[in-house]
Amino acid sequence: MAHPYRLLLVVGARPNFMKIAPIVRELAPHAGVIASRLVHTGQHYDAAMSSVFFDQLGIPRPDVDLGVGSDSHTRQTAAIMTAFEPVVLDWRPDMVLVVGDVNSTLACALVAGKLGVQVAHVEAGLRSFDRSMPEEINRILTDQLSDLLFVTEESGLDNLRREGIADDRIHMVGNVMIDTLLAHRDTAVALDIPARLGLEPQGYGVLTLHRPSNVDDLAVLERLFGAVGVVAADVPLIFPVHPRTRPMLARSPLIQRLVDDGRIRLHDPLGYLEFVGLTAASRVVLTDSGGIQEETTVLGVPCLTLRTSTERPVTISEGTNRLVGTDPADIIAGWNDIKAGGGTPRIPRFWDGQAARRIVEILLRHAAVPLEGAVGAAGSLTMGCLN
Ligand code: UD1
Repeated sequence: MAHPYRLLLVVGARPNFMKIAPIVRELAPHAGVIASRLVHTGQHYDAAMSSVFFDQLGIPRPDVDLGVGSDSHTRQTAAIMTAFEPVVLDWRPDMVLVVGDVNSTLACALVAGKLGVQVAHVEAGLRSFDRSMPEEINRILTDQLSDLLFVTEESGLDNLRREGIADDRIHMVGNVMIDTLLAHRDTAVALDIPARLGLEPQGYGVLTLHRPSNVDDLAVLERLFGAVGVVAADVPLIFPVHPRTRPMLARSPLIQRLVDDGRIRLHDPLGYLEFVGLTAASRVVLTDSGGIQEETTVLGVPCLTLRTSTERPVTISEGTNRLVGTDPADIIAGWNDIKAGGGTPRIPRFWDGQAARRIVEILLRHAAVPLEGAVGAAGSLTMGCLN
């Protein structure tokens, strides 16, 4: 293997940025062995959804920005593929590394797979078993295309084995999102975000909602707010609003009333440090996010997940998460449970701030001796497989 090994790193949407940051940092001292470049697909492009994370997490500017922007899932995925292919052809990486489960993750894995370039997937193996979630499709297909699969929790190992992925490709490494959380928690807390918002620690909750299944239909969203309003009557809720959700809120007199009463305070999307600082001192988090279920587990903050499934079951079995679904009675029951107290959450295995170090160790070994029989191993981007 000629050195340095070429590794193309991909990010696209907000939850990708905290996952790539520790990997970029761990790779830096090994640049002579693994040369890396960073591609941003531009799936998220607002400063508040993208560049603030680069600044706060010390991620270098991307080497390439594909600038694809928003569109239907098919068109967005196709646009990313079309824009990413020439980048791969031009730089000829040995491996493309993708993180998470967004459309950019699958699109770039698919391009690499078609060009015979190996794929590494960070956060492999998570399954909600709900194929109506766009992320579930992205997860399943990305894992099928991957040569190295880096897993965050035990359930991922079981899922991948059941799907026929060979054991020697699967590595339990822990959670890079938690690497970032632990690295930045003290800085985030020191910002004193609650005080800046006039809030007492433990005297407020945090709400985030952006899943299409929750926010795209006004009737569904208003039904959720029936329960959210009950929680908000106990503790005011701070609601950083995702751009997808914002237009829906304006259309709801019910939600508007809760906002006018001051029980729910709308906020623009927050930076990473501001959001962690806000969450860390909160009494409860209500969310439909994936990553926030993990962050609250490590911060020890009770979390109500307003979904019917989770791909992160360890946050329930060991962490602070309760999967309460979307029925208002169940959400309120979950909140009553939290008020009643109890339970001693544990930190899941390898959620210790060292996941990126483990990943880079494996990448270094792989760069020296690529896995035999791996999906893209024969290709290394010969002209033959480009045709
Ligand atoms: C995407 C991911 C989701 C992740 C979420 C985090 C997929 C399938 N979904 O969902 O897994 O949890 O990111 O935020 O990849 N928009 C802006 N500015 C931006 C980006 C988006 O205004 O910078 C608006 C646009 O109206 C866009 C909408 O948000 O149409 C949705 O964006 P999109 O990237 O399609 O999906 P998300 O809902 O953000």
